[in-house]
Amino acid sequence: MTIWVPALAAGGTKYRRLADAIAQAISAGELAVGDKLPPQRRLAYALGVTTGTVTRAYGEAEREGWVEARVGSGTYVRAEAVGHQLSGPLPEASDKAGLLDLGLALPPPTPEREAGLRRAMAVMQSTDMLLTGALDYQPHGGSAEHRAAYAQWLAGAGQEIDADELVVNLGGMNGIALAFASLLSPGDRLATEVLSYPGLISLAQQMQLKTLGLALDEQGIDVEALARRHHQQRFKVLYLMPEYQNPTTVQLSERRRRDLAALAAERDFWLIEDDVLPVAPGTRGTPLYRLAPERTIYLASVSKLLGGGLRSGVMRVPLSIMTRVTVALRNQCWMPPPLMAGLVCEWIESGDAARLSAWQAAEMDARYALAADILQGIDYAGRTGGFYLWLPLPAGLRASTLVDQLARRGLTVTPAEAFCIGSEPAPQAIRVCISAAPTRERLADGLRILRETLRNPDPAFWQTV
Ligand SMILES: Cc1ncc(COP(=O)(O)O)c(C=O)c1O
Repeated sequence: MTIWVPALAAGGTKYRRLADAIAQAISAGELAVGDKLPPQRRLAYALGVTTGTVTRAYGEAEREGWVEARVGSGTYVRAEAVGHQLSGPLPEASDKAGLLDLGLALPPPTPEREAGLRRAMAVMQSTDMLLTGALDYQPHGGSAEHRAAYAQWLAGAGQEIDADELVVNLGGMNGIALAFASLLSPGDRLATEVLSYPGLISLAQQMQLKTLGLALDEQGIDVEALARRHHQQRFKVLYLMPEYQNPTTVQLSERRRRDLAALAAERDFWLIEDDVLPVAPGTRGTPLYRLAPERTIYLASVSKLLGGGLRSGVMRVPLSIMTRVTVALRNQCWMPPPLMAGLVCEWIESGDAARLSAWQAAEMDARYALAADILQGIDYAGRTGGFYLWLPLPAGLRASTLVDQLARRGLTVTPAEAFCIGSEPAPQAIRVCISAAPTRERLADGLRILRETLRNPDPAFWQTV
């Protein structure tokens, strides 16, 4: 079924542009009275924005009188959609802190990132060999130099991987797509943690995979339960994030890693180990590719350190399926662009990437400590050094209500719904990303709004403040 997908105007925040597009479509008769707006997740996917952005835009359009949200049913164009008819806005975070997106997983801002890119570009530009190399075709899985530089970067994070086992790709999402293309066909069964990375969920849907969601506890997935599930519903591949689970922040225990590796060998399934998200140095467990080398694809990316716009990452591939993976890469894009991989490698070889990494680790520690201080007495999961807080909500509070309340106060967070695989039910929980706020002060403002809204989630309360 096709859905209404607006073209967004240029300039301004995404949620504002979407709210404007809704108003415009209603004014132009493109959306009629009683029409239902698309489900938020689907529209977010179609527009390439977060669900939180769509939630916020729908909230704005409602506040301005264009649409109304009906509990449990969706958002509809109002009978008398005349716009700007409510008495006044709810108190906004912008009064104090401006608009704040704690949904997006961006690395913490620093001018060093741009400076590092400039330096890497200058080196490339002034080195004939590097510059002309950027114009040429190269081996599908990346040149030997690029793979060696990536091996150096991984070693810095404690991952000793032979450059021959590495394939340079277009980032973590591309690594997942290449792993899927190499290991799975439509109709195959994929197991994942029951809450997972939305990009993976979307790809599994597009590839028409059958999915199996595995419950998580504080040690990760339960391997004994997994063994029982495998007897009932054999799956070909298990995708997981053992180091830092998105969104719950859980780390798979050492014992379970070993049990999982043994089970994968016994039952003959593949493992895709996603290690894209940063963790505090020295906190990693034994990687699965070391425990089950012949059946594990390991994914890393520079998106959460250098920047997602570079579209560059690397995957470790068992040699038995190296050809399959490089053929998949060739079929998708022929090869990763040497210009982007070259910039990243220059960044690594100059030592700038390692310096940035050390700064980021310290910054994320400080942000986590700040969050722990502000959110004292509130139930959340998280680990120092990580990007996320995971908040199971108190009884009686729905994630959609809280997300809406926060959006009205200028704060975007992500409801658990965005991470649900297949038709698994969503817990009442939200994910808060503490890395992307422009400064610690802005983060603190946002977290105080979160704390106060959690204490008083009733909209009537805020209307009177
Ligand atoms: C767990 C996980 N895997 C993969 C990705 C995709 O990373 P990239 O931007 O390198 O494609 C993300 C991005 O947020 C992620 O959270």
